[in-house]
Amino acid sequence: MPSDRHPCAGAGTPEFHRRNGELWCEDVPLTALVARLGTPLYVYSRAAITARLATVRAAFGPDATICYAVKANGALAVLRTVHAGGAGFDVVSGGELRRVQAAGLPTDRVVFAGVAKERWEVEAAAAAGILAFHVESPHELQQLASVGSQLGRRLRVMLRVNPDVDAGTHAYISTGKKENKFGVSLGVAGEAVTTIVASPWLQLVGYHVHLGSQLRSVEPYAQALAKVEAFVDADPIRARGVTHYDLGGGFGISYGAGEPFDLAAVAAALLPRLQARGWRPIVEPGRYVVGDAGVLLTRVLGEKPQGGTTFLLVDAAMNDLLRPALYSAEHPIVAVAPRAGPPRTVDVVGPVCETGDFLGKRRDLLPTQPGDLLAVLAAGAYGASMALNYNTRRRPAEALVDGGTARLVRRRETFDQLLQNEVPDAEPFVP
Ligand code: LLP
Repeated sequence: MPSDRHPCAGAGTPEFHRRNGELWCEDVPLTALVARLGTPLYVYSRAAITARLATVRAAFGPDATICYAVKANGALAVLRTVHAGGAGFDVVSGGELRRVQAAGLPTDRVVFAGVAKERWEVEAAAAAGILAFHVESPHELQQLASVGSQLGRRLRVMLRVNPDVDAGTHAYISTGKKENKFGVSLGVAGEAVTTIVASPWLQLVGYHVHLGSQLRSVEPYAQALAKVEAFVDADPIRARGVTHYDLGGGFGISYGAGEPFDLAAVAAALLPRLQARGWRPIVEPGRYVVGDAGVLLTRVLGEKPQGGTTFLLVDAAMNDLLRPALYSAEHPIVAVAPRAGPPRTVDVVGPVCETGDFLGKRRDLLPTQPGDLLAVLAAGAYGASMALNYNTRRRPAEALVDGGTARLVRRRETFDQLLQNEVPDAEPFVP
């Protein structure tokens, strides 16, 4: 980092840093960006996304297929950046596939997971020639075979196994335990393999495991592979034709606390075992690629001491960034242009009419005045993609910075757009 730049505490990436005390993204001062685009505003760093993809590639090697999880951040400009960085895509709906197509990107390295897929989604993905369908529920096989026969060709299938492994993450984002709805439990996976192998319209190309999100250790990945290996070794039919193992995503980020996740350790634990079987790895990182590459900028509206708490009222809310309300997630929050003075402890809250509407609780922040800008850090993943319109709030604008330039890649929603589907004077009809 050049000497005029200083790291920003809590930012997981050097692209967000301070110059003369102020927060910059790459070579763009965030105050200048807000002067043009307003708040709330998501800002992403192209260089940070590209650097993270390079880290994933370096860890898993040239043979790995990286399928970026579109759900983490599906902005078309982000998808193009990810594609330029050498990744394909993991989608979980026909809508996400549409995003990849709308971005003008190839679909031959798309994997399609999802615990229940509709027929139109399967048809669209088959027509797009995707790399593989991740089958999560036995009932899907009949539908897949039927679409395959309609098209007159075999569809490539990977079986998503539920290995009953505890990923040690928040209950709402843990997916690999037997009580979760995801994947096919090992007890019935054998039957599913038999069905796939017997079908003229399906081709078993591999196994898929996704244990949850924001994992912080290697062990769950190793345990899951061991369980899949034991499953496969129990019957030779289960290995026949298998070329891939998809170990899922879930690689955690720091959120201002602890060490960065050790991707190389995951690769070191799994790759030799995959190589021994001739299985090529697929990885599906979402958060790891875009989480630290984005911030949410918000403006201070006022301050209110009440009942022993100082509430700092800002113009972003739970509808813009749902993670604190939904998962008690803690994102570092910092002033964009800090003022001098002793820090005080505040709850950073938005205007939404819910007590659960907070961006951060009991945070030590430097003094602020109305109009000051705050940055909610590590908000690039599951921020904009989970934004809502509750309280008839427009979803935020999104900007992508590349060196010294920025682009508005998604305009702030308008009230006309919010209301466009409402038809209060619609003609009545008899259903
Ligand atoms: N693959 C599959 C099949 C998934 O379901 C997910 C995430 C991923 C990959 C990517 O996981 P990642 O690498 O991003 O951890 N909204 C929550 C996270 C939900 C994750 C859902 N599935 C949050 O804000 O923490």
